[in-house]
Amino acid sequence: MGWKDKIRMKDQVSKDQAPTTNQVSEAKMISQGWDKYAKEWNPEKFPIVPGSAVQYLGDEWTVEDVSAGGTTYGLPPDVIEHFDAYLTERLLNPWLPSDSEGLEIGPGGGRLTGLLVPRTKLLHLADPSPEMLSRLNRRFEGVTHLRYHHTNGVKLPELQSGSLDYVIAFDVFVHFEPRLLFGYLQQISNLLKPGGVGIIHYSNVMTPIGWQQFERDLESNMESRTWFAALGVMCPQLMEIFLESLQLEVVSTDIGIIPRDAIAVFRKSAQMGN
Ligand SMILES: C[S@@+](CC[C@H](N)C(=O)[O-])C[C@H]1O[C@@H](n2cnc3c(N)ncnc32)[C@H](O)[C@@H]1O
Repeated sequence: MGWKDKIRMKDQVSKDQAPTTNQVSEAKMISQGWDKYAKEWNPEKFPIVPGSAVQYLGDEWTVEDVSAGGTTYGLPPDVIEHFDAYLTERLLNPWLPSDSEGLEIGPGGGRLTGLLVPRTKLLHLADPSPEMLSRLNRRFEGVTHLRYHHTNGVKLPELQSGSLDYVIAFDVFVHFEPRLLFGYLQQISNLLKPGGVGIIHYSNVMTPIGWQQFERDLESNMESRTWFAALGVMCPQLMEIFLESLQLEVVSTDIGIIPRDAIAVFRKSAQMGN
């Protein structure tokens, strides 16, 4: 047995033992950060573009004011003003199957959920933040075709494999590093029906704004990732490798509608079983 195998064996032993530090995993750090954000949420606290309004948690990210620093999606003001219409026309109309059963990962306060509700027959909502889920529940009280799933930030809900027409996530995977993202893609691939569609918004360090954000996040996350809202270090090239390795049909690694980031659209091959 070589030294690499010995180290691997040692690692396996230590993985089964109780953790020796009180550090949480990266996935938990991110989900706990968002849970705290939701608990402390107050529309007044977040810098928004003058003249814009915030009703629900998450509206502030559409109209975020970055004049004092930071980055946002990089969309012009007229698009931001009609953000729902923009997402509907450029994201949902072209790619989202109608009359379908879908899963939204990380719905938060329901910014995208509100657009999915009228066009989905049965919509699963999976989020590790109890506070986000309870806000969502209050916002969509009385809507009977929603199913709420509290997850652990790593595993998707145990739905039947091959049962979903689509899986979508907006402004969620942008915060993930490649390993967590790939782990989710594996599960998404299992849950999609043959021909089912995945729509995943993720970070892109290859764009000028994505790179700017990478540099902003660097210092406070260099030793290890500590800031829950930091953007992950992803790019379309790696996304393509991920999708191809899972034998998912790549429609596009970036449909090009969010200048800072990327949105991948893919299909489970109609020939693929589960
Ligand atoms: C920035 S918010 C976006 C919410 C919503 N999609 C929107 O666009 O307004 C990120 C969401 O992802 C959820 N989240 C955080 N970590 C997650 C994880 N590991 N798996 C799935 N969702 C996660 C958060 O709880 C939160 O609801």
